[in-house]
Amino acid sequence: MIRGVIFDLDGVLTDTAVHHYQSWRRIAEGVGFALTEKHNEQLKGVSRADSLDIILGWAGATLNDAEKAALLIEKNNHYLELIASLSSADILPGVVAFLENIRSGGIKTAVGSSSKNAPFILDKLQLTYYFDAVVDGNMVRQTKPDPEVFINAAKLLALPAESCLVIEDADAGVAAARAAGMSVLGITAHGQLAEADFCVQNLLNIDLSFLQSQFS
Ligand code: BG6
Ligand code: MG
Repeated sequence: MIRGVIFDLDGVLTDTAVHHYQSWRRIAEGVGFALTEKHNEQLKGVSRADSLDIILGWAGATLNDAEKAALLIEKNNHYLELIASLSSADILPGVVAFLENIRSGGIKTAVGSSSKNAPFILDKLQLTYYFDAVVDGNMVRQTKPDPEVFINAAKLLALPAESCLVIEDADAGVAAARAAGMSVLGITAHGQLAEADFCVQNLLNIDLSFLQSQFS
């Protein structure tokens, strides 16, 4: 029986995935690589530092630590510019009603995100209030597809893994949830996320009775 729901942030609560893509595309251009949306799918859910290493691998570029650190700062500054006007109007459809529905049914809620900007973004979206725990990219040693972020979130909720459902939009996140021993609801417009238990396009029309019937 599901007693806790752990939400990914980027691409699940808000569509910041597109802003990550834009800022990575600019960094990739700088190292002579044309990043496409297809490449970007492989970066979703992956930490900032790991994403840069993957892009440098695609570009066949070798940089020293100082050069990499400078690109990570440049990427994040551009990303922060792109999300400067983020507000509650940018919460994805169905999210708030779903959070209110499951919380009023006694379900505990957490965020499990690879992003170091997660607390800042939750604040801008005015969503912080809805979560009993937040685990972000600053709080883990290994990021998705490693399960650490979801294991830590379940610990903070004081729930065993098998009582937790993860909501994810990225293959790396689905793999992390699976490795943590949790059920997974995938959010996808294109029918990907083959490893998820069940997929929907968004959280509209999803409620606690659906969760309990689908994931028990
Ligand atoms: C994940 C995103 O949530 O966070 C990735 O899906 C991003 O695209 C990662 O790279 C790290 O985010 P940030 O905000 O710390 O650069
Ligand atoms: Mg995501």
